[in-house]
Amino acid sequence: MQVVEANGARIPVLGLGTWDLKGRACARIVEQALRLGYRHIDTASMYENEREIGEAMHSSGVKREDVFITTKVWQADLAPRPFERSTKDSLAKLRLTDVNLLLIHWPNPDIPLAETMGALCKMKREGYARHIGVSNFTVAMIDEAVKLATEPLVTNQVEWHPYLDQSKVAEACRRHGLSVTAYCPIARGKATGDKMLSTIGMGYGKTAAQVSLRFLIQEGAIVIPRTSRVERLSENMAIFDFTLSESEMAEIRTLARRRSRIADWSGSPKWD
Ligand SMILES: NC(=O)c1ccc[n+]([C@@H]2O[C@H](COP(=O)([O-])OP(=O)(O)OC[C@H]3O[C@@H](n4cnc5c(N)ncnc54)[C@H](OP(=O)(O)O)[C@@H]3O)[C@@H](O)[C@H]2O)c1
Repeated sequence: MQVVEANGARIPVLGLGTWDLKGRACARIVEQALRLGYRHIDTASMYENEREIGEAMHSSGVKREDVFITTKVWQADLAPRPFERSTKDSLAKLRLTDVNLLLIHWPNPDIPLAETMGALCKMKREGYARHIGVSNFTVAMIDEAVKLATEPLVTNQVEWHPYLDQSKVAEACRRHGLSVTAYCPIARGKATGDKMLSTIGMGYGKTAAQVSLRFLIQEGAIVIPRTSRVERLSENMAIFDFTLSESEMAEIRTLARRRSRIADWSGSPKWD
């Protein structure tokens, strides 16, 4: 599996998103993904599926060292004590002694970032997380977080797909040596019906979803598509045997708009 290197971390460029996957169905799809060759799983305490993911990792037979696992601390738990409690609780559910990557899930304007960054860095120093990072951080927040951190940050996980221009956030991350992890990389399914992406895909025998994922990888992102269907696990993995041309990349970039988020909610930061 191809990796993205960022501030000392080697992150598999394709991961399985698991938001909204629950119970037996979650365990089954994660186990299947690991058997098929996925080596990166994205979860969060808020997804309430860490126990099932832990089970799947153990029953898949894949060695711990071969899997990159990310979890996140929810917005309500960003004060130091709850942060630590949430991290340890996630590890207990996952049946792990550490995660590869621990993220602040969403910034919380009511809790000073300095306190949260202190707690996040402490989790790395004490060995609960091999690497740390942030999610849903704007350019200004990334600059601030890097200033406050005493340990390197390795990623900012943000919504990114062909319909959303994330060039400013990507540039800020690059400047600080962080990778960008693209969530909603097929725009929650919207990309699959896209005429331009389908037409480009036809030239390579690929689907529009595969073109969307390939586009993001060529833009330098890590992608974490979610699916609940086994056949789509393979489809979403088959993105390493073709390369979009520069003119196709430029054409796909014309789909992007600045305000076309699909994962926005009331707790979102002010992006612009
Ligand atoms: N940090 C954050 O705040 C944040 C926010 C949102 C998401 N995330 C993470 O990012 C992951 C991905 O984002 P997402 O789940 O919101 O959206 P997504 O991966 O862009 O889209 C998932 C949807 O696309 C469908 N799909 C998947 N592969 C497909 C294919 N090849 N062809 C057609 N349809 C396909 C799935 O349906 P089926 O199940 O029917 O295949 C599902 O409905 C999440 O699961 C989560 O781990 C993080």
